[in-house]
Amino acid sequence: MTKSLNTVLFVAASMFLTGIANHAVAGTVLVTGSSQGHGLAFINDYAERDWTVIATTRTPSKADQLQALAEKFSNVVVEELDVTDFAEVDALAEKYADTPIDVLNLNGAINTFRVGRNTHGETDYAWLEQVLRTNIIGQLYVAEAFLEHVAASDQKTIAAMSAVGGSITNVRSSMAPSYRASKAGLNMLMRTYGEAVKDRGVIVAVIAPGTIDTENFMAVEDPSTLSERDQRMVAANAYAPRHAIGAMIDLIDGLTLDDIGTFHKWDGTTLPW
Ligand SMILES: NC(=O)c1ccc[n+]([C@@H]2O[C@H](COP(=O)([O-])OP(=O)(O)OC[C@H]3O[C@@H](n4cnc5c(N)ncnc54)[C@H](OP(=O)(O)O)[C@@H]3O)[C@@H](O)[C@H]2O)c1
Repeated sequence: MTKSLNTVLFVAASMFLTGIANHAVAGTVLVTGSSQGHGLAFINDYAERDWTVIATTRTPSKADQLQALAEKFSNVVVEELDVTDFAEVDALAEKYADTPIDVLNLNGAINTFRVGRNTHGETDYAWLEQVLRTNIIGQLYVAEAFLEHVAASDQKTIAAMSAVGGSITNVRSSMAPSYRASKAGLNMLMRTYGEAVKDRGVIVAVIAPGTIDTENFMAVEDPSTLSERDQRMVAANAYAPRHAIGAMIDLIDGLTLDDIGTFHKWDGTTLPW
């Protein structure tokens, strides 16, 4: 009797510790679009936390900063991936067929605040189509292609990078319609995908990162050396701090299936859909 009680206690303690370990021990992460910006910062921070990092970029040969990180950290491997190239997505999924992926970080997307601004009345429909194909369709395709890898892992999390601008409730102007539409569409696809895969224990969450000061512009002594946009951002104190990337890693690590109905912001607050 005592022996079986001890066994029960031992198993319970092990399960408790394993449960903690699932969210505390470094696992394997795949981050898309990691040659610059948030993606590059995610690679750096995951690598520093001893995760096994699969960093994808459309053009590894041009991704100098990413390649430098791969040289610095032996736990970072660089792979080529364009989320709109389904054959390439399938090939990468096949290459990693035996690798459980704890966190699939769907970061790579077209950020029209940086490239290809768009305005109602001057809609470039070919560009709109490319934005939607990249920011919505490609994201779901990658999520589905890597579902088995995620389902086989401990953490079982798909985290899609959305945007504050993807909130329909918060629309106050006509700015950036293509980008906003792409993120609102992403939110809905990921919200429904989360319902579709929750029975497998896979958590699908959307997170709005804000514009993170990955280049540390807020600390620049002479802001006039920055681009006009960055000067405006610095003056308006509009950047989220660099540690927002680490905060998102912590947020992702703490997600549970109860979070699939929530539109998260990087700082742990909730946005209206
Ligand atoms: N910065 C912001 O203000 C802000 C705010 C809210 C949300 N976000 C979101 O956060 C994420 C990262 O933003 P960011 O500011 O770091 O953007 P960024 O500097 O413009 O970089 C975007 C990355 O997306 C990748 N990408 C573009 N098209 C792709 C495609 N077809 N397939 C795969 N990757 C593709 C590119 O990666 P490669 O060149 O390496 O392939 C690029 O590095 C995006 O989802 C963005 O929408 C950003």
